[in-house]
Amino acid sequence: MASSKTILRALAGETLPTPPIWMMRQAGRYLPEYRATRAQAGDFLKLCYNPELAAEVTLQPIRRYGFDAAILFADILLIPQALGADLWFVTGEGPRLSTITTQADFDKLGPVSDIHETLNPIYETVKILSDALPSETTLIGFAGAPWTVATYMIAGQGTPDQGPAHALRMENTPLFEALLDRITEATIDYLSMQIQAGAEVVKIFDSWAGSLKGDAFLKYSLEPARRITAALKAKHPNTPIIGFPREAGDGYIGFAKATGVDCVALDNSVSAEWGAKNVQVDGCVQGNLKSSHMVTGGQPLVDETKAIVKAFSGGPHIFNLGHGITPDADPDNVQRMIDAVRDV
Ligand code: CP3
Repeated sequence: MASSKTILRALAGETLPTPPIWMMRQAGRYLPEYRATRAQAGDFLKLCYNPELAAEVTLQPIRRYGFDAAILFADILLIPQALGADLWFVTGEGPRLSTITTQADFDKLGPVSDIHETLNPIYETVKILSDALPSETTLIGFAGAPWTVATYMIAGQGTPDQGPAHALRMENTPLFEALLDRITEATIDYLSMQIQAGAEVVKIFDSWAGSLKGDAFLKYSLEPARRITAALKAKHPNTPIIGFPREAGDGYIGFAKATGVDCVALDNSVSAEWGAKNVQVDGCVQGNLKSSHMVTGGQPLVDETKAIVKAFSGGPHIFNLGHGITPDADPDNVQRMIDAVRDV
């Protein structure tokens, strides 16, 4: 039976008169109610591992704006932690992890079969959400792509150019590939458990795909996405998958066909016209308004939103930003964007 949920219809390839809409990082620091719940939890990681409060912050943007999808509140770096890496967040700076640069570091990681001990609260959050969400709202689960997760595990923090991960990839390829394999296997099990708990769609975030060029992109971004997609489709053939090889440029072309994902999320380094011509020809696309419009607002926000809706109007499209909303965004601009998409 065809679903009545607009996100699932778009993911099935339907061209809708108004694109469904959600927003990356829609539960986040730009919302006062998020900041209050995070303070109640103590810190960001405690919030991620508290199913009631994580469900609460997931629901906040749904209540406030009526988005068509809710994205599970968690983080891509919970997988490294579940594999045994140390993880903490430095306020104002970002994540820190124990680093993996030698075989001895790698050997300290635990087996994939152990990850659920740490990740059980996340599956609990998914269960709470699948009961609590309005019937028209789709629940999206997610994980980081192996390359992006590996960049943090190798460097122990975010890096502007992913230098340490590229260095390991070239200097100790077997170790780098063993790490990618471990993350890939963990990600398959993690996403499969999210689906069993009630996630209706899953998204794979490859935020740093753009720094892999040529063959390296094919081997370390496209191929792991294909492997994860194939394994998930074998177990859960009806669960759509969104791939996000951010800043892949020409790598976006043919990505859906080569990996089997149902939808490709586009960042704003490509124009919507380019995306329609080169990517949407293969199926559903998601994107791709520049996040800074959520800070600056005004007529340019409305004009650009409408231009993106128009450019993608000839095929299946889920409206979203090109990357996550930032903490300095104005919550009123989010409503303006939604009104512009829905033309109210
Ligand atoms: O989109 C959502 O609302 C769902 C939840 C979500 C978070 N992180 C919550 C979060 C999702 C899907 C992510 C993905 C994520 N996490 C990515 C991939 C997407 C992207 O943005 O490129 C990456 C690279 C991370 C790792 C991460 N988490 C970093 C680098 C940081 C610090 C940077 C920052 O924005 O502060 C985080 C923290 C984080 N993850 C926050 C949130 C709401 C802010 C934490 C806080 O409340 O202080």
